[in-house]
Amino acid sequence: MRKFFLFLLFCHVSSPVKHSLKFFFTGSSGIPDLPDFVGAAEVDQIQTAYCDSNKKLKPRQDWVKKIVRYDRQQLNWYKEECFVIQPNFLKATINYLMERLGQSEGVHVLQRISGCEWDDETGETDGFMRFGYDGEDFLTFDVKSLTWIALTPKAVSTKFSWDTDKSRIKHYENYLTQVCPEWLKKYVEIGKNSLRRKDLPSVSLLQKSPSSPVTCHASGFHPNKALMFWRKDGEELHEEVDLGETLLNHDGSFQMSADLNITSVEPEDWGRYECVFQLHGVKENIITKLDRAAIRTNLGKSLSLEANNEGPKRVSVVGAVVGVFILVLVCAVFGFIHNKKKTRRLSPGTTQRSSAPDPHQEEGERLNP
Ligand SMILES: *[C@@H]1O[C@H](CO)[C@@H](O)[C@H](O)[C@H]1NC(C)=O
Repeated sequence: MRKFFLFLLFCHVSSPVKHSLKFFFTGSSGIPDLPDFVGAAEVDQIQTAYCDSNKKLKPRQDWVKKIVRYDRQQLNWYKEECFVIQPNFLKATINYLMERLGQSEGVHVLQRISGCEWDDETGETDGFMRFGYDGEDFLTFDVKSLTWIALTPKAVSTKFSWDTDKSRIKHYENYLTQVCPEWLKKYVEIGKNSLRRKDLPSVSLLQKSPSSPVTCHASGFHPNKALMFWRKDGEELHEEVDLGETLLNHDGSFQMSADLNITSVEPEDWGRYECVFQLHGVKENIITKLDRAAIRTNLGKSLSLEANNEGPKRVSVVGAVVGVFILVLVCAVFGFIHNKKKTRRLSPGTTQRSSAPDPHQEEGERLNP
């Protein structure tokens, strides 16, 4: 849990004037109970769309719903990408890589992260597209030289092969340098109020039985850049705390929780513990003292979040699990990207501009045999 949380934080390193549009596609083989394809889009790190191979496509924000309602072209693009182009492409590529790398059956995961950034002060834009295979950085597209860069020795032969596919390269170039920035500007314009909004959550303490952990539960915050922890006498606790995942609510806001194991907390010490919630960019924290009187419990019935109004209305459990799975994978890849960039900066002469995204298109994308 904690690991996941750290990933989440790493995921959200960004500077304020730069806007970004990112598309995450993950294909996997051999993972039971998970859809073998999952896609997600983010604008300024806020999820705007989700889809998976169960034929679900979900716009995540009201302004996005409006866009897809009135702009058939956008809707069709998302449908095509989610249900046809990307699943097929990822599946074929996994097979291709397995063959190339001499792998037999087993679990394999291929991720593609693509997108662009736009600095609304300088007007500069930048695109990136990167592939990860089995949790490792694999290939990245260099938009300047229009070639692939192998990020691991295993990817070298694939790089040479993909370099020969000029039509696909052309397609990515167009996608990364034209289509993506254009869409990003449009999204930022349409979604600006919502993207900038900051909502504080309501925080409550929940407990199943007198001896079970006390859950500090915050629901309704936005954006998804928040910290939650328990502290005692002002000191952050680690051992006794279990952090839950951040989940998406029906209305586009988020919820998160942190469990405090109270088995070794003496009754007279309760007043020394408190749960702290911090929303990025908001000065005041929400502090909730550990207080028996404030705990909501539901003894007798099983405690269900649905029972209180702030709970997730109908967050699909599968969706949430998949979302977390994807986030972890995606963040793992970002971790690589982040580290790589640092390493790269240390060695002059290596190219800096590495990644490149492409939201659009793999129409016409073919695999080199
Ligand atoms: C709480 O901590 C105690 C030890 O202090 C441990 O035995 C117990 O398993 C923990 N409970 C949970 C739910 O983690």
